[in-house]
Amino acid sequence: MKLQYLREPFPHVIYHDVFTDGELDAIWKELEFFDGKYPDLEHSGTGKEENGDYKGVKEALWLSGFGQVPYEKFSIVEAIRMALYVFDGAQWEDKWIGDMWRSTTHDDVLVCKYPDGGYHTPHRDKATFTNFVWVHKEPKTFYGGNLYFPEYDNYQIKVENNKAVSIISSTMHGVSPIRGDGRYCLSNFMTIEP
Ligand SMILES: [Fe+2]
Repeated sequence: MKLQYLREPFPHVIYHDVFTDGELDAIWKELEFFDGKYPDLEHSGTGKEENGDYKGVKEALWLSGFGQVPYEKFSIVEAIRMALYVFDGAQWEDKWIGDMWRSTTHDDVLVCKYPDGGYHTPHRDKATFTNFVWVHKEPKTFYGGNLYFPEYDNYQIKVENNKAVSIISSTMHGVSPIRGDGRYCLSNFMTIEP
């Protein structure tokens, strides 16, 4: 794995080659198993605008919602933790952010599958850190779907297979409109709970 800490235009970490081939195989088996099991938007954790419209068009599934399988048993969860938590916050070269990372006590994973025409309007996540972990099949079968940051001159991070991005959750972000399907995001939220 290669990682890059960027202070500008806001602190974030970009990771390339996040998973091994074996981890990717296990993750794809789970993603295929989840197909057809995504709940309706009402139960997907997708927020609403003031006028009642959903802020995004995507299929989303909280792994912790599969009550019969302990959350930690999912390969997706284990692989994310193996890949991103191993640095114990040292990937944030600013000490105060690393300290905040080390103070987190809880994590969740939301599996998001974006259909043709999917998007997510700008919002802030209700967590401390958000780790976006992207996987898609090669060759890529969609266009768009980049992460963008409207409060930072629409700075964009390009969606790529086996790539991850960590941000402080309050950083406003959106997902640009997608043409085609096959874009998955494994969103990992880290929180500080009393
Ligand atoms: Fe978000």
